[in-house]
Amino acid sequence: MSGTLHFESSVNNRADRYAELIPQLSALLVGENDAIACMANVVAAIREAFPFFWIGFYRVVDQELVLGPFQGSIACTRIALGRGVCGAAWQKNETLLVPDVDAFPGHIACSSLSRSEIVVPVRNAEGNVIAVLDIDSDQLNDFGKADQLGLEQICDMLGKHLSEI
Ligand code: SME
Repeated sequence: MSGTLHFESSVNNRADRYAELIPQLSALLVGENDAIACMANVVAAIREAFPFFWIGFYRVVDQELVLGPFQGSIACTRIALGRGVCGAAWQKNETLLVPDVDAFPGHIACSSLSRSEIVVPVRNAEGNVIAVLDIDSDQLNDFGKADQLGLEQICDMLGKHLSEI
C-alpha cells in the first residue's frame, strides 16, 4: 500500500490518535514481506501521528541490538543485552517507561536533548524479542499508559506480521 495517512484535526488526545493510527498501520503492512521496509513505514507513520523527538527500531542481530529504521538524529548503532533502556527492555522482555532518562541507571544518551523514553519489545511467534521500538521525547515524563497500550498494540501487530512472512 502507498499513499498518505489520515488524522482528524479534532483529535487531541493520544489514545484516540493511536486508535486512528493503528488500523492505517495494519493496512500499510499488508503485502509487504521485508522486515526493514515494514519497520521503516511503521516509524514514519508513528512520526506522522506524533512528532516525537526520536523514533526507531533496534533489531536483535547476532545477540546484539543493531540500529534499524529510525527518524530523528543519528544514534548509537549497537547495544548489548542489558545495556541502556533498550538492552534492559530486551533482557526483561517487557515495555520500559522512563519518565526521566537522567534517573535511569545506565541510560545511553544518544542525544542530550532526550528527556524521557519508552521502549517496547517486538516478539516473534515464540515470544522471543526480535527487535525493540525506542521512542525518545525532548519533554520530561512525556509517555503514559495510552502510549504504552498503543505502542504495544503496534509492536504486537508488527511481530505477528513478521512471524507470518
Ligand atoms: N537511550 C537508549 C539508546 C538509544 S537512543 O535513545 C536512540 C538506551 O538507553 O538504550
